[in-house]
Amino acid sequence: MRLDKYICKSTELTRNEAKKLLKTGLVKVNDEVVKNGALQVGENCRVSVEGQELIRRTARYIMMFKPLDTICSNVDEVHPSVLHFLDVDKAFDLHIAGRLDVDTTGLVLITDDGQWSHQITSPRKTCPKRYRVWLDEPIAPEVAAQFAHGVQLKGESRLTQPAQLEVIDDKEVLLTIAEGKYHQVKRMFAAVGNHVVGLHREKIGDITLDEQLEPGQWRYLTEQEIASVL
Ligand code: URA
Repeated sequence: MRLDKYICKSTELTRNEAKKLLKTGLVKVNDEVVKNGALQVGENCRVSVEGQELIRRTARYIMMFKPLDTICSNVDEVHPSVLHFLDVDKAFDLHIAGRLDVDTTGLVLITDDGQWSHQITSPRKTCPKRYRVWLDEPIAPEVAAQFAHGVQLKGESRLTQPAQLEVIDDKEVLLTIAEGKYHQVKRMFAAVGNHVVGLHREKIGDITLDEQLEPGQWRYLTEQEIASVL
């Protein structure tokens, strides 16, 4: 792992703050001052700041099959939080990278690595999310082109970013979007005169919901899945 990233992971510092810290010459790797954030830090390296060794924090990365009638917030309201399904230590220290509505099912990614989840949720990154959508009305033939061009959501001044629509049958489609506006999928179909009756997220970036998982079940991500986000 890069030294600047290692520092961020082991402290509360942002990548910029870590870079500034490195410039001060207060960071040592195996007792040598290092100012280059790109230096690779191996398993056995000792990193210290002003003589204080940094303890490497190992973050947790989880995928869950979110069931219906659960919420993606750390606070339980009328419905239980998905974090209730996690039988891990300090589950409520984790957060959800990209929330789903109470009536949406499917893939949620849960972590305590804020930088990692930022790659998924930041509007400045373009992390594709694929949804399976069930519709009230048959899909009109022009909708794929409309979504590819961008549509006007109610209350928004800009068109949506290009999205890909794949028709499974007249009332079932796959939609891949790179944005994550509030109720985005439902609002996109409303913008073309249709109505979403069922919504399920299958994929985020290169991470696909594991077919072995039942609603409410979860597993840790593999190293490959974690690295695919960075
Ligand atoms: N878009 C929606 O409308 N709802 C979700 O839960 C996710 C995306």
